[in-house]
Amino acid sequence: MGTSAESTPGTTTTAPDLRVYVNGELVPAGEARISVFDSGLNFADGVFEGVRVYGGRVFRLEQHVKRLYESANAFEIDIGMSRNEFTSVVLDWLRANQIRENFHFRPIVTRGNRFPPRLDPRFCSGGPNMIFVGASIEPARQSGVRTIISSVRQINSAAIDARIKSLNYGNNLLARLESVRRGADDALMLDDAGFLAEASAANLFLVKDGCVLTPWAKACLDGITRRTVMDLATAQGRAVVERDLSVTEILNADEVFLTGTGTEITPVVEVEGRRIGDGAAGAVTLSLQEAYSEVVRSEGTPIEAVP
Ligand SMILES: Cc1ncc(COP(=O)(O)O)c(C=O)c1O
Repeated sequence: MGTSAESTPGTTTTAPDLRVYVNGELVPAGEARISVFDSGLNFADGVFEGVRVYGGRVFRLEQHVKRLYESANAFEIDIGMSRNEFTSVVLDWLRANQIRENFHFRPIVTRGNRFPPRLDPRFCSGGPNMIFVGASIEPARQSGVRTIISSVRQINSAAIDARIKSLNYGNNLLARLESVRRGADDALMLDDAGFLAEASAANLFLVKDGCVLTPWAKACLDGITRRTVMDLATAQGRAVVERDLSVTEILNADEVFLTGTGTEITPVVEVEGRRIGDGAAGAVTLSLQEAYSEVVRSEGTPIEAVP
């Protein structure tokens, strides 16, 4: 059976000596604890980011921090420090763990401990809980992934705005469970109007007649990789269009690929048992992968302070 595009279970290893950040302290990963009254645990009342390190640099750190703060602001969670202070805390943590390469981490901020554990946020006291966890990660699977179209829809932004990267991944999880059950690697989700939205934890792109197409960021996360790939495709002189995309269009696409911080650019070689293109990464996908691997290695915030 296949595995997910976002990460490949079995190849991602937890750094055994990683020290996790928990509310200002660095704790050995196996000993890190938060309260059973944590808001994230009880109500998915929290926000997070997924960030990646390449060659001693944190890719698009500024954008991840910005999105984390905007997500927190939407949830009315006060992170309790400025973006610059937060960035320094992240870099200190990476330095303390001597992280340099192929590392994916998740800063998680929840509203804090809630006692009694009831929905009313006023039961929270003591400020947010802030956790950084991470693990080593392998490059994206070049051979591509096989996908299904999930029966689970992506959430309408009138319910939870897709711009908020919150801990509520219930429908994404249901979609991923369905893909595992059906022997596929990942699930594509439709929006409530039946157009393509995104994969369970990645954005979606189609290539048709040389044009690079991606769904509007209305029922999908406005991914940082998505934006990077749109810019790279534009710089390559390709037409890039955001619009509603139908199931018929994906089945007739020349190429399909997923994008995400963990997923990077992963070719989709099958949708609902139907082969896409010639069943391998297409020429446009390959050229964007090449451009992307150059950009992640040449840009990013250095972990070691620049003298
Ligand atoms: C639902 C969802 N869509 C898209 C993405 C890709 O976003 P980014 O490129 O910012 O990592 C993610 C990333 O984890 C995700 O969880």
